[in-house]
This record gives sequence, structure tokens and C-alpha cells, in this order.
Amino acid sequence: MLHLRVPSQETERILQQLRAESALPDGARVQTDPSDSEFRLIPIIANLPSSIGEKYSIVDIEVDSPSPRTYRDHLDTLLPSEVVASTEWPTRHEFVGDLILIKLDEIQRQYGDAIGEALLRQHSRIRAVFEDLGVIDTFRVRDLRLLAVRDGQKPTTRTQTSVNGHNLWTDPSTVYYSSKLHHERERTLDRAKELRDELGRPLTVCDPYAGVGPSLLPLISEPELVGELFAGDLNPAAVEFLRENLTHPSATIECTDARGLKDRSEMRGKYDLLLVNIPHDAIEHLPDLLPLVRTTGMIRGWAIIEQSDFQEAQQHLRDLLGPEAILETRRSYSASADLCRFEARKAV
Ligand SMILES: C[S@@+](CC[C@H](N)C(=O)[O-])C[C@H]1O[C@@H](n2cnc3c(N)ncnc32)[C@H](O)[C@@H]1O
Repeated sequence: MLHLRVPSQETERILQQLRAESALPDGARVQTDPSDSEFRLIPIIANLPSSIGEKYSIVDIEVDSPSPRTYRDHLDTLLPSEVVASTEWPTRHEFVGDLILIKLDEIQRQYGDAIGEALLRQHSRIRAVFEDLGVIDTFRVRDLRLLAVRDGQKPTTRTQTSVNGHNLWTDPSTVYYSSKLHHERERTLDRAKELRDELGRPLTVCDPYAGVGPSLLPLISEPELVGELFAGDLNPAAVEFLRENLTHPSATIECTDARGLKDRSEMRGKYDLLLVNIPHDAIEHLPDLLPLVRTTGMIRGWAIIEQSDFQEAQQHLRDLLGPEAILETRRSYSASADLCRFEARKAV
């Protein structure tokens, strides 16, 4: 590659001039002249528009090609250059354990294998790449299609991920799991510790929509925080993972409909902390769950709320949970709706 050999102290000025003249090649990297450290070598295009090339010497040296910065840089070696140049490539993908899940449109789907291979090349710890075809059925699991798997590795969707520093098995094709609730889980841990300190004893905790247990894992890993624990889910596959992920001496783990728990006398009025993580149905399910909570116990839940319905939802929650109930927007869910968190203490 052609380089302009310039005195070190003039580098910045000459770079500015070359930039203004669009005479720098893509990804140009200035380097010190190996034969004289008082000089710098600036990469340049072949036909310089100005006479600057006449003032300084031009040298032709071999350079290592710059290392790829994103998976898209690997596509150049996997697909014809006109396809790479003319296609709009996905800019986002999700990591779940050693998997990548990526959404593709119809055009991108034709090059799914190359996208998968490029992602494997870019991310050395990733085992397999799947196209995410969206959320399906009542358990909100992902419809996944294999794009690429590393040689000699299994193309399974079962994977181990880390939740707030704890290892958790999951499978996005059979159970719901979202890494996006990381901060909510941290905050739940903080609130549980505050409640434990207030009560002066370990808490009885109920998470009837526990999924694979990401909210509970940080709680049970905290010494003396959780006494008795109920973890449930209606999805049998999630319950299998709960049994694998949660090791706690006083845990009851069941595959059951959360709305039916109130009919079991041993569970009524028992829990200091109730988690309600079923955002599409939380407000509708709440009346069935409240009987499980001990007086002054804490209810923490998440709900998807249309922005235009926020005030009405807040009033409804206050009617259900008492005037101190707090409803807060946590993040955007869609163009018109947000994921909100509610919290309340059960009235005396
Ligand atoms: C949004 S996910 C939350 C999972 C988990 N708490 C988390 O944070 O990842 C809701 C869970 O509720 C389960 N579910 C749906 N309807 C249910 C019901 N009626 N009773 C118990 N679990 C239910 C689903 O299978 C799913 O695992």
C-alpha cells in the first residue's frame, strides 16, 4: 500500500489536508517509519488530487489488513462483493449463553448461512447462531432456525448463561428467558435485602411465574435472605430448568397455574415477597395472587402498559394494592407501550 513519508511533527497537519481531499484509504492507519522514528508513514490513495505527493517521498509497503471489527467485515470473504455492498445487514443480535439469536428480513434470510458463519468468526466463544423467527405460543418461547454451528459442536438450543454473576441453564426454544431484565433483578435483590433487614429474619418468597429462575437465583445465593421459597411455572420445560437451576433447602418447585394457588390454604397469607412477572397479564392476574401475601408483605411486578393508559392503570393498581402502590416506567416495549414496574406493601 502507498504511504506518504512525512516528518512526525507535520503528521497531523498533513492528515487533515489528506482527509479534506478524501485522499485517505478506508481504515487508514498511520505508522512510524521502521527505518527512522522521526518520520511517519501515512497511507494514501493511488492518485493524489493535490501536489502534496511531490513534497514528500512516497513508499510502497506491505500492511496487514485491519482486523474485522464486526461480523459484517467477514461477509466480504463469504459472499460476492456486490451482494455485500447492496444488502442492508442486520445491526443487532442477542447473546444467550453461547448462542446468538438474530432477526432477519426476507432478503437477509437468503444469506442466513453466511451471516451465521460470519458471526461465528467474529465471536470466538459462540457455539451456534440461530435465526429468531419470533415469539410463539402461550409460553412466549422463540421459534428458532439454525444458521451455523461451530465444527464438532452440538447444534442444540440448550445453553448456560450468567444472571447477575450466577450460572443458569435455559433454552430459548422451550422456555421464556430475557437477559434484558438484568437491572430489574438487581433491584429485586436490593429490595428483598431491605425487607429482610426490616423484618429481621429470612423471607418467605413466592415467584409463581418463575420461568427458569433468573429472579430467584440472585436471591437464594444471598446468605440468610430466603427462608421458604415457592417457584412455579405453567410451562413444564421451565419447571425442569427450575429444578436444575435452583438449589435451596426449602424450595417447593411446581408446574402449576399461578391463579390456582390461592385455593391452597397452606399458601394463603404466607409470603413476605411476591413476584409477579407476567407482563402481558399481570394486572388481570393480580386479584388471584394477593391472597398469597402476608399483611405488610411486598408485591413486585411488571406490566406492559400502553402510554395512553398509564394513569388509568396506576389508579387501578392503587384500587387493588392500596394508595401507596407505585407504578414506574422502566423501558420502552413498543412504539406506544412501556414495560412498567409496580410495587406495593399489602395493606393491614
Ligand atoms: C415473562 S415470563 C417470566 C419468567 C421469569 N420470571 C423471568 O424473569 O425470566 C412469564 C412466565 O410465566 C409462565 N406462565 C404463563 N402463564 C402462567 C400461569 N397461568 N401460571 C404460571 N406460570 C405461567 C410462562 O411460562 C413464563 O415462563
